[in-house]
Amino acid sequence: MADLQAQVMAALSTVIEPELHRDIVTLNMVRDLTIEGGTAKFTIVLTTPACPLKDVFLTRCNLAVVGKVPGIEKLDIRWDAQVPTDKKMQGRLDVPMRSIIAISSGKGGVGKSTVAINLAAALAEAGARVGLIDADILNPNIPMMAGVGTGRPRVVEEKMIPVEAYGVKLMSTGFLMDPEKPLIMRGPMLHSAIRQFFTDVNWGNLDYMIVDLPPGTGDAPLSLAQSFPLTGAIVVTQPQEVALSDALRGGMMFEQLNVPVLGIVENMAGDFFGEGGGEALAKQRNWHFLGRVPLDAEVRKGGDFGRPVVITRPDSPAGKAFHALSQQVAARVSVVMLQGMDVIPLTVIN
Ligand SMILES: Nc1ncnc2c1ncn2[C@@H]1O[C@H](COP(=O)(O)OP(=O)(O)OP(=O)(O)O)[C@@H](O)[C@H]1O
Ligand SMILES: [Mg+2]
Repeated sequence: MADLQAQVMAALSTVIEPELHRDIVTLNMVRDLTIEGGTAKFTIVLTTPACPLKDVFLTRCNLAVVGKVPGIEKLDIRWDAQVPTDKKMQGRLDVPMRSIIAISSGKGGVGKSTVAINLAAALAEAGARVGLIDADILNPNIPMMAGVGTGRPRVVEEKMIPVEAYGVKLMSTGFLMDPEKPLIMRGPMLHSAIRQFFTDVNWGNLDYMIVDLPPGTGDAPLSLAQSFPLTGAIVVTQPQEVALSDALRGGMMFEQLNVPVLGIVENMAGDFFGEGGGEALAKQRNWHFLGRVPLDAEVRKGGDFGRPVVITRPDSPAGKAFHALSQQVAARVSVVMLQGMDVIPLTVIN
């Protein structure tokens, strides 16, 4: 029996994880292998519950084992996921988050907040533990877009409890301020407000912390990148020229701060703004192109009424685009984090 197990393991070690370019046994993704009759049962531990590669693994494992290892007729695969964390996350924050992803743009109004809420909701729906910080301190939009405009965080043991919507834990100055009065703050206050959203909120354990930034290359992204170990930044752009040159500057700012650019999102693509500019920019800079979201009135309505399209209209073109985007982002986060590690990661995570 042990011999058969070893043979199955050997066969599985020919299955390569397509993004990390190492085999799934070396990556410690195969767990709890047992053989019952002609069935090999095991768990595959993915690096994200939003993994787009499940079908690929299923096919490749079957090809590698069934008919190749004598006596094994079928596979019974269970799926599990552990989002890896990298070393720079450890010890620098007293908040248990595995990754922090900044959503940025050079130019205002390109759809950062829309991308942030749809991405967060899609990852949460896939089973990940997701937080979303609205770091647009002066003009918070996330509460409305998430349909919790009147939400108020409770305070328990001196920490705020995030407001929850679509399975996502949210924090925003919109929950704390008088909606009738503008908030007036200077740079250092903005800085401490963002900090407090990390430290004074009881987030619990999170796989992904998504941070929706205000537009541009100003104080907020700078203080975020300097205070917290960002896993990476996503740059949202519209397809037209004026947005692209700002997006280029935005991405280069993160690179100068040693924050990996996870990739470019082209939002509001279509007849009006054109199409393809975001992808061309990504190619030019050697950044990943994470996906294209069409210009669609349903997206705007979803924002206005607090119902993210990725949840309420998953089969619409924009819903599908946001869903695919969430998988691309999850995959990029896994790759970026695993690249920064010199030990096999999955074994060190509890
Ligand atoms: N793909 C889309 N199709 C149609 N409308 C969209 C799309 N994406 C965003 N919008 C709408 O465009 C407007 C601006 O989007 P959003 O607030 O997400 O941009 P932003 O980059 O966060 O803006 P700001 O720079 O002010 O923070 C919103 O009304 C939103 O609903
Ligand atoms: Mg915004």
